[in-house]
Amino acid sequence: MQDLIYRRKGIPFFHQKTELEFQQDIYERYHEMVVRQSALHIADELWGRYPFQPIYDFAEKHYPRDKKNNILELGCGVGRWIASLAIQYPKSACWGIDYSYQMLKRANEYWVEGKEISIDLTDKGLEQQSKKGEHLLNLKFGLAKIENLPFGDNSQHLIMNSFLIDRLENPKVGLNEMYRVLRPAGKLIMISPLNFKKSEHWKLYYPPRQLSNIIKEIGFNIIEWKEEIVINEPMDGHGNLIRWNCIGMVVEK
Ligand SMILES: C[S@@+](CC[C@H](N)C(=O)[O-])C[C@H]1O[C@@H](n2cnc3c(N)ncnc32)[C@H](O)[C@@H]1O
Repeated sequence: MQDLIYRRKGIPFFHQKTELEFQQDIYERYHEMVVRQSALHIADELWGRYPFQPIYDFAEKHYPRDKKNNILELGCGVGRWIASLAIQYPKSACWGIDYSYQMLKRANEYWVEGKEISIDLTDKGLEQQSKKGEHLLNLKFGLAKIENLPFGDNSQHLIMNSFLIDRLENPKVGLNEMYRVLRPAGKLIMISPLNFKKSEHWKLYYPPRQLSNIIKEIGFNIIEWKEEIVINEPMDGHGNLIRWNCIGMVVEK
C-alpha cells in the first residue's frame, strides 16, 4: 500500500489536498452534500425505504464466495455500501476511498467510531433524525484520488462504485487504475447514470456502447450489463424525486 502523507482526525490522506482543492470541491460542502448523503444513505426511516436498494439488488449476486477478501469501494461518500460488505464479510479487509474529507469524516464517525450523528434536513420539510453508529473493525476510510489509488497492483478481490465514473475528470484514467489494482478474476461492479458534465465526455463515452468498448480495450471482460436500473432519489418531505436512469456494469479482469 502507498505511504500515507498525514492523518486528519483519523482519516489517512494519500493525496496532498490543497486549500484551493478543498474550496473548489463541492463534495466538501457540509449541509448540501454530507448531510444530504447521510439522509439518503443512513436514515432509511425518513423515506420508509432505502432509496439506493436497487444497487444492492443488482450487485449482490456478484459478491465473492470466499469469506476473506480485499474489498474496495471508490467514491464511497458516507460509506453505506462498503459498510454493508464489511458486515457481510467480517473476515475481509474493506476500504472506502473518496476525495472528500468531510464525507470520509462522517463515514468514519458513523461506521467505525460508533458515534451518534444528527441529520437536520428540516429545511426540506423532513423530521430531524439522530442515528447511533457502528463499530466495524474490518473497515477503513481514506482520502485519495481514484486516478491514483494507494493500493498495489492486483491487490483487490472486489471493487465497487456508484454514481462515480461520470463525475471523474478523466473516467478512462480512473478505469485504468481500477484495472491495475483489481486481482485477476476479481470483479468490478459499477452503477452510473452516465450523467456526464462535459461535452467531451459525452462524445467519448456515449452511447453506452462506446463506454463498453473502452472498458474492453482496457482489458476487462464484461459479465453483466444492465440498462435502466432506476434509482428514485427523494428530494424532500413532500415526496419530490429525481429519477436516475442508471447502467449497471459488472466486469472481470
Ligand atoms: C455523486 S457522489 C456518490 C456518492 C455515493 N457513491 C453514492 O452513490 O451516493 C460522488 C462521490 O465521489 C467522490 N469523488 C468524485 N471524484 C472523485 C475522485 N476523482 N477521486 C475520489 N473520489 C471522488 C466525491 O467526493 C463523492 O463523494
